[in-house]
Amino acid sequence: MKYESFILENWLNPACDSEKNRIYLGGSCVLPMTVKELFELTGESLDDFLKWVADMNMAYPEFAGTERTRRAVSGLYKNVDWKEVILVHGGTGANSTVVNTLLEEGDNIISIVPNYQQFYSMPKAIKVEVRDVHLDIKNGYKLVLDDVRKAVDKNTKAIMFTNPNNPTGSLLEPEEMEELVEIARSVGAYIVCDEMYRGLKEEYMPSFADIYEKAIVTASSSKVWSMAGTRVGWIICKDPSLMFDLFNYRSYDSICGGKFDEYIFAIALEHKNKILARSRSIVNHNKAIIDKWLDGHKYLHQYADAYGTTYLIHYDVDVDAETFCNRLLDEKGVLVCHGDCFFIPHTFRITLSHAEELEEGLRLIDEFIDELIAEDPSRHVKF
Ligand SMILES: Cc1ncc(COP(=O)(O)O)c(C=O)c1O
Repeated sequence: MKYESFILENWLNPACDSEKNRIYLGGSCVLPMTVKELFELTGESLDDFLKWVADMNMAYPEFAGTERTRRAVSGLYKNVDWKEVILVHGGTGANSTVVNTLLEEGDNIISIVPNYQQFYSMPKAIKVEVRDVHLDIKNGYKLVLDDVRKAVDKNTKAIMFTNPNNPTGSLLEPEEMEELVEIARSVGAYIVCDEMYRGLKEEYMPSFADIYEKAIVTASSSKVWSMAGTRVGWIICKDPSLMFDLFNYRSYDSICGGKFDEYIFAIALEHKNKILARSRSIVNHNKAIIDKWLDGHKYLHQYADAYGTTYLIHYDVDVDAETFCNRLLDEKGVLVCHGDCFFIPHTFRITLSHAEELEEGLRLIDEFIDELIAEDPSRHVKF
């Protein structure tokens, strides 16, 4: 099977590893924690944990996934039983397991754009028709529900998207979620929602798993939980026959997850409020700095009410996004993620979540734009 190049991962990961990358503002994980920090934050005993590691039998874990972790994951939802949780290898493993299990040639899916590339390139590779519905970008990147209503039909297997959205951070309100469920239900479609960025609001953020029997929700330890290196992902599925198929596919793909990873992630989730408070505080702090920087900015605009870990910033400079970001990295050592990864020209994604030298990075972006305009003043174009 031939897959299209994964634009974001293939561009960002090498750039991230490059020596030129001095100030990394391109990612989307909340500042990762050390193991020590996790234990300090939770108040659990690191000594007991290290003893557990030393005595750990390195056989397979429970094939269905560590029960303690599945129970802890189900506690992130209002209406999910722990047996409806499948543990897989990262959010990426969750998404690919769902695509490969659910979809087949002849289906169509609705892809709400910008979307994570697994949700459109993988379906295309198995000859599924992908119908794009674009968020209304300048209107706060909001979803126009009527566009979805017009795009679905009886062959629509699933509506697939990310909520909160990556890269814009826009979020469906509870009434919009209900309406989307009603649209999916009218044609018997699944809602497949990547909820990797859920959890940053102070109040409970509803999940599609709470409200729709044909919801399939994916998420992982990477983003709001700051533990990407543990590679714990999960799928919530409430349909027993599909559940069997998902486990079956996972047997072909990875058999099961890692014992150590699932164990340490369970400890984190059992203190979910402390971890989320840390994440919110980091994101809110950085957001305030970036909001101040953007306020009245001559060249830069951000349109969303954002609840993820990134902003998508539009720039009024007539240089394509990949060139803009390559030059920014080459000339200033600042790495942001170019908006062509999301097919949104003249934009870049900037992190709200893990910047040690954020203010210096923002200053260098300003300096870089001033230099671009000084090189050629006709580049200042209002998009
Ligand atoms: C929307 C979305 N889904 C999935 C992933 C992959 O997550 P993981 O690191 O858990 O594989 C990412 C990573 O950037 C993402 O942004």
